[in-house]
Amino acid sequence: MSTPQPQAQDQAYILGHSERELVRLERQAALFADLTRDILERAGLERGMRVLDVGCGVGDVSLIAADIVGPDGAVIGLDPSQAALSVARARAQAKSLDISFVPGTLEATDIPADIDAVTGRFLLLHMADPGAALAGLAKRLKPGTLVNFIEFDISTSYALPALPLLHECIERIGEVYRRSGRTADMGASLYPAYRAAGLAPEMIGLTRISNDQDVDGFEFIVESTRSLMPAMEALGIAGAAEIGIETLHERLIDEAQASDDPCIFYPRLVGAWARVS
Ligand SMILES: C[S@@+](CC[C@H](N)C(=O)[O-])C[C@H]1O[C@@H](n2cnc3c(N)ncnc32)[C@H](O)[C@@H]1O
Repeated sequence: MSTPQPQAQDQAYILGHSERELVRLERQAALFADLTRDILERAGLERGMRVLDVGCGVGDVSLIAADIVGPDGAVIGLDPSQAALSVARARAQAKSLDISFVPGTLEATDIPADIDAVTGRFLLLHMADPGAALAGLAKRLKPGTLVNFIEFDISTSYALPALPLLHECIERIGEVYRRSGRTADMGASLYPAYRAAGLAPEMIGLTRISNDQDVDGFEFIVESTRSLMPAMEALGIAGAAEIGIETLHERLIDEAQASDDPCIFYPRLVGAWARVS
């Protein structure tokens, strides 16, 4: 596969690829692994398929896909970040899985002719024009290829009773994407993006729900905030002192535990899939 300009794409990517961000990706993925597998299977991934995972990051979706397609199938993970690909390779090797992780971008990489399915999670959110990106991809796929994307609707995350600090954190995260000209609720926007690409998607929305004991969930919010802090400051959304990142985890837990047994709704995960005609 050819890899024209991974560096240029990399610079526009708002979360960055620090070591800490790559660990965050892995932990975030653990929270959504079961829902992701559910979507991949509903979409039609099955044994023996050859799957391309675009924007694979540290390889979490690739690992699930490899488990579904089994040894008779094949998975290729594609990402512009060499740092992320190195981690992904090591993780696949540790599980004795034969996954190819290659550098490249959704927009500019040649897709091998024998690919049966393309999947991608938490990627279109980072695109200035997801519909155009999807249309460009669909044109490069042979008829019958399955196209599956999974995205969050950030604004759907909330707690009952309301937790103001948690709400503020989620608002700030969404605002980074909105002010950067990205789609914070990319899950809901999958439908118009697929339609712009001439595809008629089937879709599903799934929500992880937890309570005040969900330490991992609060960590997900804190680490997402940490990775987006440079953008929050640059875009004038909040400064370091206001965010108070070093105490944020503790304050989120304290807020939840001082509340009246809150029920916490994670951002809705939306899966869409269609076959190229
Ligand atoms: C939020 S991460 C998601 C990683 C993985 N899909 C997951 O769900 O854990 C988004 C990934 O997309 C990659 N990326 C950014 N721009 C891209 C592009 N134009 N084409 C392909 N991947 C891209 C980033 O390097 C990053 O690894």
